[in-house]
This record gives sequence, structure tokens and C-alpha cells, in this order.
Amino acid sequence: MTVRVPAKINLVLAVGAKRSDGYHELATVFQAISLYDEVEARAAAEISVAIQGEYADQVPTGESNLAVRAAATLAGYAGVRSGVRLRLRKRIPVAGGLAGGSADAAGSLVACDALWETGLGRAELSSLAGRLGSDVPFALAGGTALGAGRGERLTPVMVGGTFHWVVAVAAGGLSTPAVYAELDRLRAAGEGTDSDLDVGFDVLTALRAGNAEALAAALRNDLEAAARTLLPGLRTTLETGRELGALAGIVSGSGPSCAFLARDAEHAGELADELVAAQVCADALVATGPVPGARLI
Ligand code: C5P
Repeated sequence: MTVRVPAKINLVLAVGAKRSDGYHELATVFQAISLYDEVEARAAAEISVAIQGEYADQVPTGESNLAVRAAATLAGYAGVRSGVRLRLRKRIPVAGGLAGGSADAAGSLVACDALWETGLGRAELSSLAGRLGSDVPFALAGGTALGAGRGERLTPVMVGGTFHWVVAVAAGGLSTPAVYAELDRLRAAGEGTDSDLDVGFDVLTALRAGNAEALAAALRNDLEAAARTLLPGLRTTLETGRELGALAGIVSGSGPSCAFLARDAEHAGELADELVAAQVCADALVATGPVPGARLI
């Protein structure tokens, strides 16, 4: 069984107060983009994982691996006694704010569900996904969706076209908990207040119209200031993308990847080449969105 599963970007990420369980209440708009990992599942006695691809050496292969945790969670829930040999082909940058680990967990759920013939519906898989991580239900669903709660409560959003993105990949990663902690620190120091947890109508109107200029004006990320404090070089990346003609640029999720909105496919290709030539990122990847979530191929 082989599953293809996309990365995500957050078009709006409004972060509210920290809750008693340590998570922050969110109001977000996710979009799945055409950067994919593949998760392959073969019958085996034990649960294990092997990782291939450019980012393979940055991902753990033990029980902390999210694809392994997803398989173990599904086996426990469905009463499956067999194991699985998982193989990940990583193309989504690691610790980049693109939910690559969540994508692998979602891919593993779909692949193991098919391999073990557990026959769980999408709703049950989505609730298991929510236990594995805040972004895992969205990696399962794909498309474009409003996210509430920790980000796990989803409502699909209508989109009237395809948007063209350039994802600027940074040389290193950022830890998501560290970025949220930095936001808490900045807020405690009086630099910014808790968000009103409203994504606003502008982003939804722009998406429905398929209007890139209008979407550019509506992009927003409350984690951006915290990510930029931890990695001051992000400012140059964002400024350079805008100077090179991107309609807009934002830090993706908790960063450090930056997502730039382009006018069309040709503009995205040019922008990616220019960002790499300007040496403000390790790599620049062209992607379109929205695309479907985790699917058997
Ligand atoms: O849910 P996930 O394991 O992906 O979250 C990673 C970390 O990000 C959490 O442990 C928490 O520190 C932070 N987080 C948060 N609020 C959210 C989502 C994540 O504080 N809504």
C-alpha cells in the first residue's frame, strides 16, 4: 500500500491564549500544497520504519517517529496484532512549518488502514489523527480548511481556483514548541496581545474568488514575530521575496519555511530561481494549492 500525502501552509494563523493543557487556541486557514511525502506499508511481524529522500537523516526511526506512532495507535484502536514495515520517501522539508511529520502520520494511518483492512471510516481516522498531533487531521483531509481548537477541528473552505506558491526552505529547522513559547514570552513582555481568534472574511472571499491579489492582502501569521526573533535572517528572506515581486510572503506555520504567493506558474518558477540566486534560502520549491489529502496511489 502506498499513500501520497501533502504538506500544508497556513494562510491565516491566529493564535489565542495558552490553554490549561499547554496548547494554544487557534483560528487558522490551512491549505494543502503539492509537496508530497510517500508512505509505503508492507505486511511484517513488528512495526518498523525506513526513511529515504533528501531529508531522511533528519527524521528519527524509533518509536518517536510519527508514522510509527500512527501505526501503533491504529493497531491498538482496531485490535490488530500484525505489524507493518513502513517506508517513508521524504520530500517535505523537516521541522520547516510545513507539517511534514504530521503528513507522515496521516499517510501511515491511511496505508495501515488499507493493509490491515481495518475499514475505519474517515471520521474515525480523523479522530485518531487528532490524538497524534494538531495538524494530522488536516493532512488526512487536504484541500483548504478552517481549523479551530488546537487546529484539529476542521471545516472545509470553498476555493475558486488554483494558487501558485514558492516555498523558501531554510538551512535549519525550528522547534514548534519553542516558537509558541517565544510568542508567549513576547506577549508577556507586552509585545503583542492575544489574538481575537478570527480569521476574517477577507481570506474566505479571496479564496472563493480564486483571487491571488486579494489573498495576498489577507495572509497573516501570529507566529511570525516569534519565528523571526528566533531566526533573525527570516526578515531578509521575506523582504527579498517581496522585492523580487511576490504578491506576498509569510512564514509558514511555526517556520522557518517562508511561503510566497505568485501570480501564476511562470511567475512562481522565476521567483523560485531568483530566491535561490539571491542566496536567502537553502532551496526554493514551487507548489500549487489546494490539493487533496492523504490518498492511496
Ligand atoms: O500537536 P503537535 O504535537 O503538532 O504540537 C506540537 C507542539 O506545538 C505542542 O506541544 C505545543 O507546544 C505547540 N502547539 C501549541 N498550540 C497548538 C498547536 C501546537 O501550543 N494549537
